[in-house]
Amino acid sequence: MKIFVTRKIPEPGLKILGSNHDIEVNSPDKVLTKKEIIEGLKGKDGLLCLLTDNIDEEVIKSEPKLKMIASYAVGYDNIDVKTATELGIPVSNTPGVLTDTTAEMGWALLFSVARRTVEGDSFTRAGKFKGWGPMLMLGQDVTKKTLGIIGAGRIGTAFALKSKGFDMNVLYVSNHTNQILENEVNAKKVDLSKLLKESDFISLHVPLTKKTYHLIGERELQMMKKIAILINTSRGSIIDEKALVKALKEKWIFGAGLDVYEHEPEITEDLKVLDNVVLQPHSASATFETRTKMAIMAAENMIVGLKGKIPPNCINKEVFK
Ligand code: GLV
Ligand code: GLV
Repeated sequence: MKIFVTRKIPEPGLKILGSNHDIEVNSPDKVLTKKEIIEGLKGKDGLLCLLTDNIDEEVIKSEPKLKMIASYAVGYDNIDVKTATELGIPVSNTPGVLTDTTAEMGWALLFSVARRTVEGDSFTRAGKFKGWGPMLMLGQDVTKKTLGIIGAGRIGTAFALKSKGFDMNVLYVSNHTNQILENEVNAKKVDLSKLLKESDFISLHVPLTKKTYHLIGERELQMMKKIAILINTSRGSIIDEKALVKALKEKWIFGAGLDVYEHEPEITEDLKVLDNVVLQPHSASATFETRTKMAIMAAENMIVGLKGKIPPNCINKEVFK
């Protein structure tokens, strides 16, 4: 069978795909336009796509032979899963393998904002460090503070569990009681407004859906403490980015650490000039180990899906009912 891969992924994944099937990999290493995806998909049975590809109804319906969509990401808000399901096309993602890696980026951002490491680095390089100062580069302590987790799925849970060494008071917002968090870090399930009002650090771990779009807007930012730090490693549109810029400028909160943006790869210009925000280029899962695991996982899902069987990480199992 024939597979279209929308961008080069780590070799071990391509090797698995190539040993069973004909693969075509988009060769200029860049994000494809919708037209280019449709062009590449012509005559293919499988589509291996990325989170930067908008796999909408038009793309899915453009190739009647399409039998399987394997995404190289855990989040799948970029795929019209409903249409795929209606057409009997399984869709898979890459959960689990990037959980700790993404949680680690959350902590990297949390610490860099709390202790102003990016600002400190620029300051030092610029030759502004003229000697130790009692009031120089003051930040926020992390140990024994209150950590608020919004969304307690795999990544939110891993992020919160890593707070153990910092002896934190953990609050979480979730549709379900998370027994692991309650047992391991004595976490308390609370409602959103309590979490916003009481947390020193707030980290977002919900998927992007109609319900979570702009979950954090002006009203929510105003409820946070003046010393609060907001971390986002989920999806940009969970936060109203304009409202966040206002909050950071007017110092409603201490700072923010962002890996994702509302209109990626575009970033609200004002964010780039603010000192109290640390910006990462959507790279929370970007480690050599994890990207290789994601490639293998996506490829294995593809192989199983093309056999007409349930891929191990199928997100629309109803297709097989
Ligand atoms: C990254 O954002 C992913 O969803 O894998
Ligand atoms: C999201 O996929 C999560 O595991 O929290």
